[in-house]
Amino acid sequence: MRKPLIAGNWKMNGSKASVTTLLEGVVGGMQDLSNVDVAVCVPFPYLEQSERMLKGSAVALGAQNLCTESGGAFTGEVSASMLLDFGCHVVICGHSERREYYGEDDAIVAAKIAQAVSAGLRPIFCVGETLEQRQQGETDAVIAGQVDGVIERIGIEIFRKVEIAYEPVWAIGTGMTATPEQAQDVHAFIRARIAALDPEIAAGIRILYGGSMKPGNASELLAQPDLDGGLIGGASLDATDFLAICRAGE
Ligand code: G3P
Repeated sequence: MRKPLIAGNWKMNGSKASVTTLLEGVVGGMQDLSNVDVAVCVPFPYLEQSERMLKGSAVALGAQNLCTESGGAFTGEVSASMLLDFGCHVVICGHSERREYYGEDDAIVAAKIAQAVSAGLRPIFCVGETLEQRQQGETDAVIAGQVDGVIERIGIEIFRKVEIAYEPVWAIGTGMTATPEQAQDVHAFIRARIAALDPEIAAGIRILYGGSMKPGNASELLAQPDLDGGLIGGASLDATDFLAICRAGE
């Protein structure tokens, strides 16, 4: 059985004061949650504060990006070992905002996943199609290309240590959510693609859904057989909403 994972992606939001309020709320509401893994992926400057506040709690700390290189002359970059140094367990790789605004292609995403895994971090590898691609009937081809683009470069074995997140770009921050059926179709497609290479890895890998997941739609989405959790943007900035989604994941 795959234990669900609910991960918050705070994106570029927060201040020292708001991080304090948010994490106090999340940690304070965790007691009754046992059948779900919970993580928060915070902006780099708040890692130290978050590590301190999450100590002793069941909430795992994560980051939203890392460098393809392990260290050295890469101005402005943050390495996997630095994330580990601040108590991170997970890191988002290949989010569509990174692909779109920072030119991250499959090669870069694959290198980041490899870097993360070799350091002992668990990457959350994001894939997803745009609205135009969906309307053109290209969803499966786009997802297959993104998944294969990583597997071809770093192999299937590494996927034992990877989470996948399906995030339809048209559903991110738009309030438009994929229907449970649309999400399930893509999740099943991803799992089948991996199963063709390694059925055991496919059966064990967690595939999260991301894209306007909220307390009001989380239960229905998470009830789908191939949805193993959520990657939550906007709703992860409110402790009550985030905890409600975690509860729906149990
Ligand atoms: O990574 C999470 C994300 O892209 C979804 O964002 O705000 O639609 O939940 P949101």
